[in-house]
Amino acid sequence: MQGPRAPLDTEIPSVIEFLDSNLRPEGEWSITSEYPIAFSEANRNNIRIITENDEVLAHAVVRPMIIKTPAGLFKIAGLGSVVTSTEHRNQGLSTKTIESCLDAAKAHGCDFAILWTNLYDFYRRMGFELAGNEVSVLLDRDITGGEKNLKFMDSGKIAPEAIHRLYSQHTVTSLRTIDETRKYLQIPNSRVYTAWDATGTLKAYAIEGKGADLDGYIHEWGGNVPALVSLFAHIRQAQKRNITIIVPGHSQNLVRTLKEHGLHVNEGFLGMIKILNTANLFSKIKRHARSLGVQDLVLDATGGKYYIGAGTSVFLTDSERDVVRLIFGPQKPSEIHDFDKETAEVLDRVLPINMWVWGWDSV
Ligand SMILES: CC(C)(COP(=O)(O)OP(=O)(O)OC[C@H]1O[C@@H](n2cnc3c(N)ncnc32)[C@H](O)[C@@H]1OP(=O)(O)O)[C@@H](O)C(=O)NCCC(=O)NCCS
Repeated sequence: MQGPRAPLDTEIPSVIEFLDSNLRPEGEWSITSEYPIAFSEANRNNIRIITENDEVLAHAVVRPMIIKTPAGLFKIAGLGSVVTSTEHRNQGLSTKTIESCLDAAKAHGCDFAILWTNLYDFYRRMGFELAGNEVSVLLDRDITGGEKNLKFMDSGKIAPEAIHRLYSQHTVTSLRTIDETRKYLQIPNSRVYTAWDATGTLKAYAIEGKGADLDGYIHEWGGNVPALVSLFAHIRQAQKRNITIIVPGHSQNLVRTLKEHGLHVNEGFLGMIKILNTANLFSKIKRHARSLGVQDLVLDATGGKYYIGAGTSVFLTDSERDVVRLIFGPQKPSEIHDFDKETAEVLDRVLPINMWVWGWDSV
C-alpha cells in the first residue's frame, strides 16, 4: 500500500474515476465539475490518496481559503470528498488521508479546518466538533413584498462581475476571484436566479442546488434585503416547492424580515470545525478583542490545556472541542459555561466570532 500522498499528474484520471464511481454512481456529471476549485490543477498538491497496485483505495482533498470577517482574515481549510472503496473500509485508510490533508493544511498556515457531513462521530474521533451559526429558513409558502419593479432572470448565463460585486458586499466572505465565480456559475444542477432594476443593475442573486448536493437549498445569495425578499418570492413561484434558504446567523436583518413574512426559522450549525493552529487563531481573536476595547481577554493554550476568560477569572479545559464551541458558537460563552457576570460580559462581547463559508466554496 502506498500513501497517503498527493497523486502524480498521470494518476489524476484514475483518481477522478475512483471518485465518480464511488461518490457519483449516477454518472450524470463528474464530481470535479461540482468542486471546480478543489479539483483545479492548482490544488492537486492538496489531494491525498492511498493506492495499491495502481488502484486508488482512499481519497480526501483539502482546499485552503482566506475568509474575510469583521474579526479579521482567517486562513481555513475546507475538507471534502472523503471516501474509501467499500472493500477497504474500517482499516484506518480514511483516518490516514484526513490526517495527511490536515497536515497539508497546517503547512499552508490554516487556522482551522471545516467540513460538512452527517457522520458526526466519525469526525469527532479526529477532534472536529459541530460549530458556527447557520440559520435555515423554510420557504414553504408564497411571500409578497420586498423591492418593486424588479426584473427576474432564471439563468446562469450572466456576467460573473455583477455577482461578484454583490458577493463582495457581504461582511463575511471567502476571497474569490471573478474567474472563480465564472467557474462556479457553470456547476451542474445549480439554478441561478437574479433580480435587476430598471437601469439594468443587479440588485440580488440566489443560487439553488449544486451538483448532487443542496437540491432545494439556496446556499448562496447576495443583495439588499428588500431585493432578496422579492427574489425569494419569485423563486418560490417559479419552483412551486418547499425551498430552504441557508443564512449566516449574523445576517440578522434578513432573518428578521423573513420571520416577519411568517417563514419558519431553524437554528443549526455551520459545519464541523477543528482548530489547526491554536496560537495563530488565539492571537487573531485577542487582536480582535483589543479592537473592541477588551484588553484582558485570556485565551491561551499550554501543555494540552486551554485557558479562557477575562482578567483573573479563567475557565480551564483540556477539550479542544469546548474551545471550538466557544470561538465559533452558535451559543454565547455565557450560555455554554457558568462564567461570573463580569467575565461573561467580556466574553460575550468578543465571542462567538462571525464565521461563514458560502455554499459555492463548501468543499
Ligand atoms: C466514512 C468512510 C470515509 C470511512 O472510511 P474508512 O476508511 O472505513 O475509515 P477508517 O477505517 O479510517 O475509520 C473507521 C473508523 O470509523 C468508524 N466509522 C466509520 N463510519 C462511521 C460512521 N458513519 N459513524 C461513526 N463512526 C464511523 C469505524 O467504526 C471505525 O472506528 P474504529 O477505528 O474505532 O473501529 C467510508 O465509510 C466511506 O467511504 N463512506 C462512503 C463515503 C462517505 O460517506 N464519506 C464521508 C463524506 S463526509
